[in-house]
Amino acid sequence: MNRTLVICKPDAVERGLVGEIVGRLERKGLRLAAGSLRVIDEQTAARHYEEHVGKAFYGELVSFIGRSPSLVLAVEGPEDTWRIVRTLMGPTNPAEAPPGTIRGDLGTDLAENLIHGSDSAESAARELAIFFPELR
Ligand code: RTP
Ligand code: MG
Repeated sequence: MNRTLVICKPDAVERGLVGEIVGRLERKGLRLAAGSLRVIDEQTAARHYEEHVGKAFYGELVSFIGRSPSLVLAVEGPEDTWRIVRTLMGPTNPAEAPPGTIRGDLGTDLAENLIHGSDSAESAARELAIFFPELR
C-alpha cells in the first residue's frame, strides 16, 4: 500500500471545504489511513516546508499554515498515490488551475490554495514521518 501526505490547509477548514476535498479524494478511489485536525506550529512548519526556508514568501507561508487548524491526512492508494493527489489538486496558483481540479474549482489565491500534497515519493515518506511518525 502506498501513502502520501495531504493537508487541508487552514483556509479549507475555515471555509468548510474539508468534506468537499476529502470527498474528491475518496471518490477517486483513495482511502484515509490516518487523520488529525491540528494547528501546525512554527517548528513543524519549518520541517515540513524546509525546501522553502529563505524564500520571499516563507514568512507568509508559515504564518498562514499555522493560522488555525489544518486537517492533516495520510492518504492511501496504488503506486505513486502522491501523483494522483497532485493531479486532483491542480497547479499551485488557483488562478491558473483548470476547472475540475480542487484549486481550480475552489480557490483564487496563491497563498491560500486549500491543499498540500507531497510532490514525490521521497517527499511523501519524509512528510509522513513528520506528521504521522507512528504510521508504518
Ligand atoms: P504545497 O507544497 O502546499 O502542496 O504546494 P505546491 O507544491 O503546489 O507549491 P510549492 O512551490 O511547494 O509552494 C508551497 C506553498 O507556498 C505558497 N506559495 N506562495 N506567494 C508566493 O509566491 C507563493 N508561492 C508559493 C503556496 O501556498 C504553496 O502551496
Ligand atoms: Mg510543495
